[in-house]
Amino acid sequence: MTQHLTIVDHPLVQHKLSLMREKDTSTKSFRQLLREISHLLAYEVTRNLPLTTKKIETPLCEMDAPVIDGKKLALISILRAGNGLLDGILELIPAARVGFVGLYRDEETLKPVQYYFKVPSQLEDRITIVVDPMLATGNSSAAAIDLVKDAGAKNIIFLCLLAAPEGVARMKEAHPDVPIVTASLDSHLNELGYIVPGLGDAGDRMFGTK
Ligand code: URA
Repeated sequence: MTQHLTIVDHPLVQHKLSLMREKDTSTKSFRQLLREISHLLAYEVTRNLPLTTKKIETPLCEMDAPVIDGKKLALISILRAGNGLLDGILELIPAARVGFVGLYRDEETLKPVQYYFKVPSQLEDRITIVVDPMLATGNSSAAAIDLVKDAGAKNIIFLCLLAAPEGVARMKEAHPDVPIVTASLDSHLNELGYIVPGLGDAGDRMFGTK
């Protein structure tokens, strides 16, 4: 499968994203906007889910009603900022199974090191959506997807809020089979690894830390 990048250019997404980018947006507003934008991104990322039908009875008659086919989706959050996207998505897909991947960067090797990993069973039979708001260098996202694939996942979509071209290129090289859905492809990474224009540190902005 060739990789594809979907940019969700819906006016509501773009408007909310602009509000999130503003440096004076409060933690409370940032969190609320992230929740709202997560719903819209969840709508887009699930657009091509396979449907089947089941027989139901309406008050008037029987019908073959469309329902999502297959096992419950798996949502995998890359800690900690992934949880901001996860919470909103779960409001739209409340029956999804949920996993977490925790990685930190080894300061000597600069490679991502796993400190937490817990994912749902039977990943091989589930559509798996890996979420992290910021696709920056792509190193941690690519490493997280390595782990999720090792756990069995075969049908993976990566969902983020912002992507840098460097991160998209890294993902394309490491996981060409994983489509990326994002609200914006920004300009570049700065020398500190921040996405420009970006929105700063997503975790700090959503949790009010510094
Ligand atoms: N992670 C963030 O939170 N922000 C960036 O700009 C890059 C990585």
